[in-house]
Amino acid sequence: MSQFKIAVVIGSLRKDSFNRKLALALAHLAPPEFTFEHVEIGDLPLYNQDDDGNQAASVKRLKTEISAAQGLLFITPEYNRSFPGVLKNAIDHASRPYGQSVWGGKPAGVIGVSVGAIGTALAQQHLRNVLAYLDVPTLGQPEAFIQNKDDLFDDKGHIGNESTKQFLQAWLDKYVAWVKTHNA
Ligand SMILES: Cc1cc2nc3c(=O)[nH]c(=O)nc-3n(C[C@H](O)[C@H](O)[C@H](O)COP(=O)(O)O)c2cc1C
Repeated sequence: MSQFKIAVVIGSLRKDSFNRKLALALAHLAPPEFTFEHVEIGDLPLYNQDDDGNQAASVKRLKTEISAAQGLLFITPEYNRSFPGVLKNAIDHASRPYGQSVWGGKPAGVIGVSVGAIGTALAQQHLRNVLAYLDVPTLGQPEAFIQNKDDLFDDKGHIGNESTKQFLQAWLDKYVAWVKTHNA
């Protein structure tokens, strides 16, 4: 049985999302004691503080899934030099009602792929700010800003480029150690 359940939160709802592909490819690089479980955020309502006392079923499900996880993995594109609103919406939902946030203390990795040359650097920095406030310890190094190029994924959905694969394996190994340290 897996010892470490990772809640994977993807900042794109797009069907052919590169970030979703990156999530699947990263799961192939993970050790057997880790399972990556995709957390759905596309069905959440827009956050409205009036609903704090009566959270939607999708919000309760999100909070249950985050609570059950030993670690978090945020995989996000960059939208207009920040992370997408759908991701902020999910983060806000699971942080409320006040005093009942499920984020605190969960070790997290932050990574992303975009078409731009500085692929997701600013999105990740904004996200780290929010996570710091929510008391989510994020792996600081190595940083991973992945630019989407033709050979990034092979036809099986694995990382197709050998040097990128080695880089991502090293990143994931650090992430695995980070999660283990925070669950020791
Ligand atoms: C509204 C919007 C804003 C974007 N802004 C940026 C940006 O600031 N930086 C960047 O590198 N790419 C930007 N892009 C391009 C995305 O990186 C690209 O669409 C990427 O494939 C989205 O991730 P996904 O494939 O996981 O959906 C933007 C795309 C959209 C739709």
